[in-house]
Amino acid sequence: MTTFPENFLWGTATAAYQVEGAWNEDGRGPSIWDTFSHTPGLVANGDTGDLACDHYHRVEEDLDTLAALGVGAYRFSISWPRVQPGGSGPVNRPGLDFYSRLVDGLLARDIAPVATLYHWDLPQELEDAGGWPHRDTATRFAEYARLMGDALGDRVHTWITLNEPWCSAYLGYASGVHAPARTEPAAALAALHHLNLGHGLAVQALRSTAAASAQMSVTLNLHHVRGVSERDADAVRRADALSNRAFLGPMLEGAYPRDLIADTASVTDWSFVRDGDEATACRPLDVLGVNYYNPTLVRQWDGSSRRETADGHQDGASSPWIACEDVEFVRQPGPYTEMGWNIDESGLSELLLRLHRDHPGLPLMITENGAAFADVVDADGRIRDERRIDYLRRHLTAVTEAIAAGADVRGYFVWSLMDNFEWAHGYAKRFGIVRVDRDTMRRTWKDSAHWYREVVATGKLPS
Ligand code: FCB
Repeated sequence: MTTFPENFLWGTATAAYQVEGAWNEDGRGPSIWDTFSHTPGLVANGDTGDLACDHYHRVEEDLDTLAALGVGAYRFSISWPRVQPGGSGPVNRPGLDFYSRLVDGLLARDIAPVATLYHWDLPQELEDAGGWPHRDTATRFAEYARLMGDALGDRVHTWITLNEPWCSAYLGYASGVHAPARTEPAAALAALHHLNLGHGLAVQALRSTAAASAQMSVTLNLHHVRGVSERDADAVRRADALSNRAFLGPMLEGAYPRDLIADTASVTDWSFVRDGDEATACRPLDVLGVNYYNPTLVRQWDGSSRRETADGHQDGASSPWIACEDVEFVRQPGPYTEMGWNIDESGLSELLLRLHRDHPGLPLMITENGAAFADVVDADGRIRDERRIDYLRRHLTAVTEAIAAGADVRGYFVWSLMDNFEWAHGYAKRFGIVRVDRDTMRRTWKDSAHWYREVVATGKLPS
Protein backbone atom coordinates (compact mmCIF):
# COMPACT_ATOMS: atom_id res chain seq x y z
CA MET A 1 0.00 0.00 0.00
CA THR A 2 1.50 3.36 -0.95
CA THR A 3 -1.56 5.59 -0.49
CA PHE A 4 -1.86 7.67 2.66
CA PRO A 5 -4.99 8.30 4.74
CA GLU A 6 -7.15 11.19 3.60
CA ASN A 7 -6.45 13.73 6.34
CA PHE A 8 -2.78 12.88 6.62
CA LEU A 9 -0.83 16.01 7.56
CA TRP A 10 2.12 16.67 5.25
CA GLY A 11 4.75 19.13 6.33
CA THR A 12 8.34 20.21 6.51
CA ALA A 13 10.31 21.13 9.64
CA THR A 14 12.96 23.61 10.73
CA ALA A 15 14.21 25.04 14.03
CA ALA A 16 14.84 28.63 15.04
CA TYR A 17 18.58 28.60 15.65
CA GLN A 18 19.20 26.54 12.52
CA VAL A 19 17.47 28.92 10.11
CA GLU A 20 16.68 32.34 11.54
CA GLY A 21 19.95 34.24 11.89
CA ALA A 22 19.37 37.79 13.21
CA TRP A 23 20.99 36.57 16.39
CA ASN A 24 21.37 40.00 17.96
CA GLU A 25 18.50 41.93 16.40
CA ASP A 26 15.30 43.40 17.78
CA GLY A 27 16.17 42.68 21.39
CA ARG A 28 16.97 38.97 21.11
CA GLY A 29 19.08 37.71 24.01
CA PRO A 30 21.92 35.18 23.68
CA SER A 31 21.18 31.47 23.93
CA ILE A 32 23.46 28.61 24.88
CA TRP A 33 23.87 27.90 21.16
CA ASP A 34 25.23 31.40 20.51
CA THR A 35 27.75 30.83 23.28
CA PHE A 36 28.58 27.36 21.98
CA SER A 37 29.00 28.33 18.33
CA HIS A 38 31.06 31.39 19.26
CA THR A 39 33.47 29.23 21.24
CA PRO A 40 36.40 28.35 18.96
CA GLY A 41 36.72 24.68 18.13
CA LEU A 42 33.24 23.51 19.03
CA VAL A 43 31.53 23.78 15.62
CA ALA A 44 32.99 22.49 12.35
CA ASN A 45 34.57 25.28 10.28
CA GLY A 46 33.88 27.76 13.06
CA ASP A 47 30.34 28.12 11.68
CA THR A 48 27.73 29.95 13.74
CA GLY A 49 23.99 30.58 13.49
CA ASP A 50 24.54 34.35 13.28
CA LEU A 51 23.17 34.44 9.74
CA ALA A 52 21.94 30.85 9.31
CA CYS A 53 19.46 30.99 6.39
CA ASP A 54 18.53 34.58 7.16
CA HIS A 55 15.01 33.28 7.51
CA TYR A 56 14.21 36.13 9.92
CA HIS A 57 14.47 38.56 7.01
CA ARG A 58 13.31 36.22 4.25
CA VAL A 59 10.27 34.82 5.95
CA GLU A 60 7.85 35.89 3.20
CA GLU A 61 9.89 34.14 0.54
CA ASP A 62 10.08 31.00 2.68
CA LEU A 63 6.35 31.08 3.31
CA ASP A 64 5.81 31.25 -0.43
CA THR A 65 8.05 28.22 -0.85
CA LEU A 66 5.90 26.30 1.64
CA ALA A 67 2.77 27.31 -0.25
CA ALA A 68 4.32 26.23 -3.54
CA LEU A 69 5.22 22.86 -2.00
CA GLY A 70 1.57 22.53 -1.10
CA VAL A 71 2.22 21.31 2.44
CA GLY A 72 -0.63 21.36 4.94
CA ALA A 73 1.61 22.10 7.93
CA TYR A 74 4.89 23.71 8.87
CA ARG A 75 6.85 22.81 11.97
CA PHE A 76 9.02 25.66 13.25
CA SER A 77 10.42 26.49 16.65
CA ILE A 78 10.17 29.63 18.71
CA SER A 79 13.47 31.01 19.92
CA TRP A 80 12.95 31.48 23.65
CA PRO A 81 15.60 34.24 23.94
CA ARG A 82 13.99 36.11 21.05
CA VAL A 83 10.67 36.40 22.85
CA GLN A 84 11.96 36.46 26.44
CA PRO A 85 15.62 37.48 26.24
CA GLY A 86 16.81 36.36 29.67
CA GLY A 87 14.29 33.54 30.07
CA SER A 88 12.14 35.41 32.56
CA GLY A 89 10.21 38.63 32.75
CA PRO A 90 8.10 40.36 30.14
CA VAL A 91 7.81 39.52 26.48
CA ASN A 92 10.10 41.18 23.95
CA ARG A 93 7.50 42.59 21.57
CA PRO A 94 9.51 42.77 18.32
CA GLY A 95 10.60 39.15 18.78
CA LEU A 96 7.07 37.99 19.42
CA ASP A 97 5.82 39.98 16.42
CA PHE A 98 8.06 37.90 14.18
CA TYR A 99 6.29 34.68 15.22
CA SER A 100 2.91 36.33 15.08
CA ARG A 101 3.61 37.33 11.45
CA LEU A 102 4.91 33.85 10.70
CA VAL A 103 1.78 32.22 12.11
CA ASP A 104 -0.51 34.64 10.27
CA GLY A 105 1.45 34.11 7.06
CA LEU A 106 0.99 30.36 7.39
CA LEU A 107 -2.73 30.63 8.08
CA ALA A 108 -3.16 33.00 5.13
CA ARG A 109 -1.69 30.24 2.97
CA ASP A 110 -3.80 27.53 4.56
CA ILE A 111 -0.84 25.92 6.30
CA ALA A 112 -1.27 24.69 9.88
CA PRO A 113 1.33 26.16 12.28
CA VAL A 114 3.06 23.48 14.35
CA ALA A 115 5.14 25.31 16.96
CA THR A 116 7.94 23.78 19.00
CA LEU A 117 8.63 25.77 22.16
CA TYR A 118 12.09 24.44 22.83
CA HIS A 119 14.44 23.30 20.12
CA TRP A 120 17.58 23.57 22.27
CA ASP A 121 18.18 27.33 22.47
CA LEU A 122 18.03 27.96 26.21
CA PRO A 123 18.49 31.62 27.17
CA GLN A 124 22.10 31.93 28.33
CA GLU A 125 21.01 33.67 31.51
CA LEU A 126 19.14 30.55 32.59
CA GLU A 127 22.17 28.38 31.89
CA ASP A 128 24.26 30.78 33.97
CA ALA A 129 21.79 30.20 36.79
CA GLY A 130 22.28 26.42 36.51
CA GLY A 131 20.52 25.39 33.30
CA TRP A 132 18.30 22.33 33.00
CA PRO A 133 19.96 20.52 35.94
CA HIS A 134 18.45 23.31 38.04
CA ARG A 135 14.78 22.84 38.93
CA ASP A 136 13.87 26.48 38.45
CA THR A 137 14.45 26.14 34.67
CA ALA A 138 11.33 23.95 34.46
CA THR A 139 9.30 26.68 36.17
CA ARG A 140 10.72 29.32 33.83
CA PHE A 141 9.86 27.11 30.87
CA ALA A 142 6.23 26.85 32.00
CA GLU A 143 6.03 30.63 32.30
CA TYR A 144 7.40 31.03 28.80
CA ALA A 145 4.84 28.46 27.57
CA ARG A 146 2.06 30.46 29.18
CA LEU A 147 3.24 33.65 27.49
CA MET A 148 3.27 31.91 24.12
CA GLY A 149 -0.14 30.36 24.75
CA ASP A 150 -1.50 33.82 25.54
CA ALA A 151 0.04 35.38 22.46
CA LEU A 152 -0.34 32.68 19.80
CA GLY A 153 -2.71 30.18 21.35
CA ASP A 154 -5.66 31.28 19.25
CA ARG A 155 -3.80 30.39 16.05
CA VAL A 156 -1.32 27.54 16.58
CA HIS A 157 -2.63 24.15 15.45
CA THR A 158 -0.21 21.92 17.37
CA TRP A 159 2.14 22.74 20.25
CA ILE A 160 5.26 20.68 20.72
CA THR A 161 6.77 21.41 24.12
CA LEU A 162 10.27 19.99 23.66
CA ASN A 163 12.27 18.74 20.73
CA GLU A 164 14.36 15.67 21.52
CA PRO A 165 14.99 16.12 25.25
CA TRP A 166 17.36 13.16 24.83
CA CYS A 167 19.77 15.52 23.05
CA SER A 168 19.24 18.38 25.49
CA ALA A 169 20.04 16.19 28.48
CA TYR A 170 22.66 13.76 27.23
CA LEU A 171 24.45 15.62 24.44
CA GLY A 172 24.24 18.93 26.27
CA TYR A 173 25.19 17.81 29.78
CA ALA A 174 26.82 14.34 29.52
CA SER A 175 28.86 14.06 26.32
CA GLY A 176 29.09 17.82 25.80
CA VAL A 177 28.99 17.75 22.00
CA HIS A 178 26.01 20.11 22.14
CA ALA A 179 25.46 23.30 24.11
CA PRO A 180 26.10 23.97 26.92
CA ALA A 181 28.99 21.52 26.48
CA ARG A 182 28.99 20.14 30.00
CA THR A 183 30.20 16.64 30.80
CA GLU A 184 28.50 15.88 34.10
CA PRO A 185 26.47 12.65 34.05
CA ALA A 186 24.65 13.30 37.33
CA ALA A 187 23.67 16.78 36.14
CA ALA A 188 22.49 15.27 32.85
CA LEU A 189 20.03 13.03 34.71
CA ALA A 190 18.80 16.01 36.72
CA ALA A 191 18.41 17.87 33.41
CA LEU A 192 16.43 14.94 32.04
CA HIS A 193 14.06 15.11 34.98
CA HIS A 194 13.57 18.86 34.75
CA LEU A 195 12.89 18.56 31.02
CA ASN A 196 10.19 15.97 31.76
CA LEU A 197 8.79 18.16 34.52
CA GLY A 198 8.98 21.29 32.36
CA HIS A 199 7.11 19.45 29.61
CA GLY A 200 4.21 18.60 31.94
CA LEU A 201 4.07 22.12 33.37
CA ALA A 202 4.14 23.60 29.88
CA VAL A 203 1.27 21.40 28.69
CA GLN A 204 -0.72 22.57 31.73
CA ALA A 205 0.06 26.20 30.95
CA LEU A 206 -0.85 25.79 27.29
CA ARG A 207 -4.10 23.98 28.02
CA SER A 208 -5.23 26.94 30.10
CA THR A 209 -4.27 29.56 27.52
CA ALA A 210 -4.47 28.06 24.03
CA ALA A 211 -7.59 27.32 21.98
CA ALA A 212 -9.47 24.21 23.09
CA SER A 213 -8.86 22.71 19.64
CA ALA A 214 -5.07 23.05 19.92
CA GLN A 215 -3.22 19.74 19.94
CA MET A 216 -0.60 19.09 22.60
CA SER A 217 2.50 17.12 21.78
CA VAL A 218 6.17 16.50 22.49
CA THR A 219 8.80 15.33 20.03
CA LEU A 220 11.09 12.49 21.08
CA ASN A 221 14.00 10.97 19.21
CA LEU A 222 13.20 7.47 20.33
CA HIS A 223 15.92 4.95 19.63
CA HIS A 224 14.92 1.73 17.96
CA VAL A 225 17.42 -0.46 19.80
CA ARG A 226 18.32 -3.90 18.51
CA GLY A 227 20.78 -6.45 19.87
CA VAL A 228 23.39 -8.20 17.76
CA SER A 229 22.21 -11.53 19.20
CA GLU A 230 19.85 -12.84 21.87
CA ARG A 231 22.70 -12.68 24.36
CA ASP A 232 22.50 -8.91 24.16
CA ALA A 233 19.02 -8.60 25.63
CA ASP A 234 20.24 -6.81 28.73
CA ALA A 235 22.24 -4.30 26.69
CA VAL A 236 19.06 -3.60 24.68
CA ARG A 237 17.05 -3.17 27.88
CA ARG A 238 19.58 -0.76 29.37
CA ALA A 239 19.87 1.43 26.28
CA ASP A 240 16.10 1.40 25.86
CA ALA A 241 15.54 2.50 29.46
CA LEU A 242 17.97 5.39 29.19
CA SER A 243 16.96 6.60 25.77
CA ASN A 244 13.25 5.82 25.48
CA ARG A 245 11.55 4.87 28.70
CA ALA A 246 13.29 7.71 30.61
CA PHE A 247 10.87 9.99 28.73
CA LEU A 248 7.93 7.74 27.84
CA GLY A 249 7.69 6.54 31.46
CA PRO A 250 7.11 9.88 33.20
CA MET A 251 5.38 11.60 30.27
CA LEU A 252 2.93 8.86 29.35
CA GLU A 253 2.72 6.66 32.44
CA GLY A 254 3.60 8.98 35.30
CA ALA A 255 6.61 7.02 36.57
CA TYR A 256 10.29 6.49 35.85
CA PRO A 257 11.13 2.90 34.98
CA ARG A 258 12.52 1.08 38.01
CA ASP A 259 15.32 -0.48 35.99
CA LEU A 260 16.54 2.97 34.92
CA ILE A 261 16.77 4.08 38.56
CA ALA A 262 18.66 0.89 39.41
CA ASP A 263 21.00 1.08 36.39
CA THR A 264 22.04 4.65 37.24
CA ALA A 265 22.26 4.24 41.04
CA SER A 266 26.03 4.74 41.03
CA VAL A 267 25.59 8.11 39.28
CA THR A 268 22.65 9.64 41.15
CA ASP A 269 20.09 8.85 43.83
CA TRP A 270 17.40 10.69 41.84
CA SER A 271 16.62 12.86 44.88
CA PHE A 272 15.82 15.70 42.48
CA VAL A 273 12.51 13.90 41.77
CA ARG A 274 10.03 15.32 44.26
CA ASP A 275 6.66 13.88 45.25
CA GLY A 276 4.13 14.60 42.56
CA ASP A 277 6.68 15.44 39.84
CA GLU A 278 6.05 12.31 37.81
CA ALA A 279 2.30 12.92 37.89
CA THR A 280 2.93 16.50 36.75
CA ALA A 281 5.08 15.29 33.84
CA CYS A 282 2.26 12.99 32.77
CA ARG A 283 -0.31 15.22 31.02
CA PRO A 284 -2.69 13.80 28.45
CA LEU A 285 -1.29 14.40 24.96
CA ASP A 286 -3.17 14.52 21.67
CA VAL A 287 -0.35 13.21 19.54
CA LEU A 288 3.23 11.98 20.10
CA GLY A 289 5.93 13.42 17.84
CA VAL A 290 8.49 10.90 16.62
CA ASN A 291 11.81 11.84 15.02
CA TYR A 292 13.51 8.98 13.22
CA TYR A 293 16.74 8.79 11.27
CA ASN A 294 18.19 5.31 11.87
CA PRO A 295 18.13 2.37 14.29
CA THR A 296 20.64 1.60 17.06
CA LEU A 297 22.55 -1.67 17.33
CA VAL A 298 24.03 -2.79 20.66
CA ARG A 299 26.04 -5.66 22.08
CA GLN A 300 27.05 -6.66 25.57
CA TRP A 301 30.72 -5.67 25.89
CA ASP A 302 33.01 -8.54 26.83
CA GLY A 303 35.21 -6.22 28.89
CA SER A 304 38.43 -6.82 26.98
CA SER A 305 38.09 -6.26 23.22
CA ARG A 306 38.12 -2.73 21.82
CA ARG A 307 34.72 -1.30 22.78
CA GLU A 308 32.71 0.02 19.85
CA THR A 309 30.96 3.36 20.40
CA ALA A 310 29.39 3.94 16.98
CA ASP A 311 26.13 5.43 18.25
CA GLY A 312 26.06 8.17 15.60
CA HIS A 313 26.24 11.02 18.08
CA GLN A 314 29.89 12.03 17.67
CA ASP A 315 32.59 10.92 20.03
CA GLY A 316 32.63 13.54 22.76
CA ALA A 317 34.89 13.81 25.78
CA SER A 318 32.55 11.42 27.53
CA SER A 319 29.63 9.23 26.56
CA PRO A 320 26.00 10.32 26.37
CA TRP A 321 25.12 6.76 27.45
CA ILE A 322 25.23 7.15 31.20
CA ALA A 323 25.86 3.93 33.12
CA CYS A 324 26.06 1.94 29.89
CA GLU A 325 29.77 1.13 30.19
CA ASP A 326 29.01 -2.51 29.42
CA VAL A 327 27.07 -1.70 26.29
CA GLU A 328 28.74 -1.49 22.90
CA PHE A 329 27.23 0.56 20.10
CA VAL A 330 27.98 -1.42 16.99
CA ARG A 331 28.58 0.05 13.55
CA GLN A 332 25.73 -1.01 11.31
CA PRO A 333 25.89 -2.08 7.69
CA GLY A 334 25.43 0.62 5.03
CA PRO A 335 24.43 2.40 2.94
CA TYR A 336 24.99 5.55 4.95
CA THR A 337 23.96 9.17 4.72
CA GLU A 338 26.50 11.99 4.92
CA MET A 339 26.08 11.92 8.72
CA GLY A 340 27.44 8.38 8.73
CA TRP A 341 24.00 7.14 9.79
CA ASN A 342 22.92 3.88 8.20
CA ILE A 343 19.79 3.84 6.09
CA ASP A 344 17.32 1.32 7.47
CA GLU A 345 13.66 2.18 7.24
CA SER A 346 12.56 -1.06 8.90
CA GLY A 347 13.44 0.59 12.22
CA LEU A 348 10.79 3.22 11.61
CA SER A 349 7.91 0.82 11.00
CA GLU A 350 9.00 -1.33 13.94
CA LEU A 351 9.25 1.71 16.21
CA LEU A 352 5.81 2.97 15.20
CA LEU A 353 4.31 -0.45 15.85
CA ARG A 354 5.99 -0.70 19.22
CA LEU A 355 4.53 2.67 20.24
CA HIS A 356 1.14 1.59 18.95
CA ARG A 357 1.39 -1.56 21.07
CA ASP A 358 2.79 0.04 24.23
CA HIS A 359 0.66 3.20 24.16
CA PRO A 360 -2.59 2.28 22.44
CA GLY A 361 -4.88 5.16 21.63
CA LEU A 362 -2.12 7.74 21.34
CA PRO A 363 -1.86 9.04 17.75
CA LEU A 364 1.62 9.41 16.30
CA MET A 365 3.20 11.93 13.98
CA ILE A 366 6.62 11.77 12.32
CA THR A 367 7.89 15.23 13.21
CA GLU A 368 11.31 14.72 11.56
CA ASN A 369 12.77 12.33 9.02
CA GLY A 370 15.26 13.06 6.29
CA ALA A 371 18.83 12.72 5.15
CA ALA A 372 22.00 14.74 4.60
CA PHE A 373 23.89 14.14 1.38
CA ALA A 374 26.70 15.97 -0.37
CA ASP A 375 24.48 17.48 -3.06
CA VAL A 376 25.93 18.58 -6.36
CA VAL A 377 24.63 21.48 -8.42
CA ASP A 378 24.81 20.30 -12.02
CA ALA A 379 25.88 22.54 -14.89
CA ASP A 380 22.23 23.17 -15.73
CA GLY A 381 21.63 24.38 -12.16
CA ARG A 382 19.60 21.33 -11.17
CA ILE A 383 20.26 19.36 -8.00
CA ARG A 384 19.58 15.73 -8.76
CA ASP A 385 19.43 14.42 -5.19
CA GLU A 386 18.23 10.94 -6.03
CA ARG A 387 19.61 9.42 -2.85
CA ARG A 388 17.49 11.78 -0.75
CA ILE A 389 14.39 10.89 -2.78
CA ASP A 390 15.21 7.23 -2.29
CA TYR A 391 15.63 7.76 1.48
CA LEU A 392 12.30 9.57 1.74
CA ARG A 393 10.52 7.00 -0.41
CA ARG A 394 11.82 4.12 1.72
CA HIS A 395 10.78 5.76 4.96
CA LEU A 396 7.37 6.82 3.68
CA THR A 397 6.79 3.26 2.52
CA ALA A 398 7.68 2.10 6.03
CA VAL A 399 5.09 4.54 7.40
CA THR A 400 2.39 3.09 5.14
CA GLU A 401 3.35 -0.40 6.31
CA ALA A 402 3.00 0.63 9.94
CA ILE A 403 -0.37 2.22 9.20
CA ALA A 404 -1.52 -0.94 7.41
CA ALA A 405 -0.51 -2.93 10.50
CA GLY A 406 -2.61 -0.72 12.75
CA ALA A 407 -0.46 2.23 13.85
CA ASP A 408 -2.38 5.51 14.01
CA VAL A 409 0.05 7.83 12.20
CA ARG A 410 -1.40 11.26 11.49
CA GLY A 411 1.33 13.11 9.67
CA TYR A 412 4.89 13.35 8.37
CA PHE A 413 7.36 16.25 8.35
CA VAL A 414 10.50 16.17 6.22
CA TRP A 415 13.66 17.36 7.91
CA SER A 416 14.28 19.82 6.51
CA LEU A 417 12.63 22.48 4.41
CA MET A 418 16.05 23.90 3.59
CA ASP A 419 19.76 23.35 4.18
CA ASN A 420 20.63 24.87 7.54
CA PHE A 421 22.95 25.02 10.54
CA GLU A 422 23.40 21.39 11.53
CA TRP A 423 24.53 22.07 15.12
CA ALA A 424 28.13 21.02 15.78
CA HIS A 425 28.49 20.06 12.09
CA GLY A 426 27.82 23.61 10.98
CA TYR A 427 26.70 24.07 7.37
CA ALA A 428 28.66 21.09 6.08
CA LYS A 429 25.71 18.73 6.33
CA ARG A 430 22.82 19.53 4.02
CA PHE A 431 19.42 18.12 4.97
CA GLY A 432 17.19 20.44 2.92
CA ILE A 433 14.86 19.60 0.08
CA VAL A 434 15.57 23.21 -0.86
CA ARG A 435 19.20 24.22 -1.28
CA VAL A 436 20.50 27.39 0.35
CA ASP A 437 23.54 28.92 -1.32
CA ARG A 438 25.83 30.03 1.51
CA ASP A 439 27.15 33.07 -0.38
CA THR A 440 23.95 34.46 -1.82
CA MET A 441 21.29 32.88 0.43
CA ARG A 442 19.53 31.96 -2.79
CA ARG A 443 17.00 29.13 -2.41
CA THR A 444 16.84 26.45 -5.13
CA TRP A 445 14.48 23.51 -5.19
CA LYS A 446 16.27 20.18 -5.32
CA ASP A 447 14.67 17.31 -7.23
CA SER A 448 13.48 16.01 -3.85
CA ALA A 449 11.38 19.14 -3.34
CA HIS A 450 9.62 18.57 -6.66
CA TRP A 451 9.16 14.93 -5.74
CA TYR A 452 7.76 15.79 -2.31
CA ARG A 453 5.35 18.28 -3.85
CA GLU A 454 3.90 15.49 -5.92
CA VAL A 455 3.60 13.19 -2.90
CA VAL A 456 1.77 15.93 -0.97
CA ALA A 457 -0.52 16.74 -3.90
CA THR A 458 -1.54 13.15 -4.58
CA GLY A 459 -1.22 11.54 -1.14
CA LYS A 460 0.66 8.73 -2.86
CA LEU A 461 4.22 7.69 -3.56
CA PRO A 462 4.95 8.09 -7.27
CA SER A 463 6.01 4.80 -8.80
C1 FCB B 1 17.60 16.17 14.97
C2 FCB B 1 17.30 17.62 15.33
C3 FCB B 1 17.22 18.53 14.14
C4 FCB B 1 18.24 18.19 13.08
C5 FCB B 1 18.21 16.72 12.75
C6 FCB B 1 19.16 16.31 11.67
O1 FCB B 1 18.22 15.55 16.04
O2 FCB B 1 16.10 17.71 16.04
O3 FCB B 1 17.35 19.85 14.61
O4 FCB B 1 19.48 18.63 13.45
O5 FCB B 1 18.45 15.96 13.90
